[in-house]
Amino acid sequence: MSEGILLSKVARGTLLPEAERVARLREALPQIRAAIEGETDPIAVQATLACLLWETFVQSNWCGFYRRIEDRLLAVGPYQGGMGCLRIPFERGVCGAAARTGQTQLVEDVHAFPGHIACDDATRSELVIPIRGGGSLRGVLDLDSPHPGGYSAKEAEILEDFLKEGWLDRLRWEPKMGD
Ligand code: SME
Repeated sequence: MSEGILLSKVARGTLLPEAERVARLREALPQIRAAIEGETDPIAVQATLACLLWETFVQSNWCGFYRRIEDRLLAVGPYQGGMGCLRIPFERGVCGAAARTGQTQLVEDVHAFPGHIACDDATRSELVIPIRGGGSLRGVLDLDSPHPGGYSAKEAEILEDFLKEGWLDRLRWEPKMGD
């Protein structure tokens, strides 16, 4: 069995100081790259990323993907945490705003965000990063935390750069069958 990634054990829900969160993320990324390197199946990549980012971002109560399944509609993908909404139209919520604008959404307090979707009442802050591939929006990475200000601009920037490396270019898939 794979060991996953090696990071110090921190209790789920802990909001570490920002410098420690950034250091933890920087420590995790080379290990995450090594774990998914060479994998071409998009669900395998997304599921593994959801798992390893969940291990990294201990301040989170949800971590995973929403995939674009129609022109202006997202459907939930691989994730960790409590049950999330199954579908999110572009018009709704923080994920919808990221999909609609193509801009990362760093929301310090979701109570102040018009149209926020309260899938989990405990969620207080969110970081949602759009994922592009082949010239169009393919989906978003969504991180939610029960802490106000659970994510920083630096964490957002590092994750954006990581996603630009193209790990999620192939969000659509077709099975290769022999018969
Ligand atoms: N982040 C979403 C809602 C939470 S999901 O169901 C996990 C939004 O407001 O867009």
